[in-house]
Amino acid sequence: MRVLVAGGAGYIGSVVTAALLAEGHEVTVLDDLSTGHADAVPPGATLAEVSLHHSAPVLADVRPEAVLHFAAKSLVGVSQQRPFEYWDTNVGGSLALLEAMRAADCRRIVFSSTAATYGEPEAVPIREDAPTRPTNTYGASKLAVDHMLTSYAVAHGFAAVSLRYFNVAGAAFGLGERHATETHLIPIALQVAAGQRESLTVFGEDYPTPDGTCIRDYVHVADLADAHLLALPAPADGEHRIYNLGNGTGFSVQEVVDAVRQVTGHPVPVVIGERRAGDPAQLVASSDRIRADLGWTPDHTDLAGIVRDAWDVSRAR
Ligand code: UFG
Repeated sequence: MRVLVAGGAGYIGSVVTAALLAEGHEVTVLDDLSTGHADAVPPGATLAEVSLHHSAPVLADVRPEAVLHFAAKSLVGVSQQRPFEYWDTNVGGSLALLEAMRAADCRRIVFSSTAATYGEPEAVPIREDAPTRPTNTYGASKLAVDHMLTSYAVAHGFAAVSLRYFNVAGAAFGLGERHATETHLIPIALQVAAGQRESLTVFGEDYPTPDGTCIRDYVHVADLADAHLLALPAPADGEHRIYNLGNGTGFSVQEVVDAVRQVTGHPVPVVIGERRAGDPAQLVASSDRIRADLGWTPDHTDLAGIVRDAWDVSRAR
């Protein structure tokens, strides 16, 4: 299939681009390189260095049969301080992309949504029918695009899937996380293990969890890529599906730190800090729906394996 990957120079977009190429798809990456890296675009894909707002000529030229949309601002903390960037890129940019698709007669899309659309969960594991009450602008902006897709499916016959990622981690095809501003737990812990940072601050150890630190659902980026390949042909015209993507197993911050120590063989000095604003105690996905509908099963559920893959790629770099 001829596909356009918006945000294919970023962490998850580049891994999925590599997986699409391996399956024989023809891929154009659209990315303004604001946070992505040109050298992360896998060989075999064509890069159009363009923002979502200016995507129409690229779609008119490429005439993709489907779009996978990863391009977004994704830092929760920054979204609270500079909301314009999140509404502008994530919502305005996505709207421009959908209009560019319509003009190019392309109506199939897989969209990167997030667990942050749910906010503080009432029950864990979180199912897709849980209330969506985002507690930050990032989650609200992603939820707005989910709603946008529902209305484009109804009004314009779009075949759409929103994949709500939990904590994506690990590496695949030699591609891992590489953010200018790193905020995620596993890459930061690996930087400490590598001696690039002095210590890791654990944001709170007084949560109502067994060891007092927050619990998250870490899903391997290779399993996430598999889910995209399964989701791409799944919806019928006029259908918008929503699927959670996680392992269904939670690991605490303390367990992640222990895994990083064990995998790397290096010390990871830890400082206990204050809670980070907006962090729910526990976020674990129910991925029953995508397992039942699409037969998706994560292969990399072992935390040490996820950490090892991220470590190997970060060291190679
Ligand atoms: N943490 C620390 N110290 C750090 C970094 C993180 O203790 O230096 C803790 C956090 O408090 C949290 C856990 O490690 O309890 C995981 O934090 P991350 O920042 O790695 O990930 P989040 O769970 O905050 O965020 C993820 C995605 C977001 C998404 C969110 C859904 O990265 O895009 O889940 O709530 F919005």
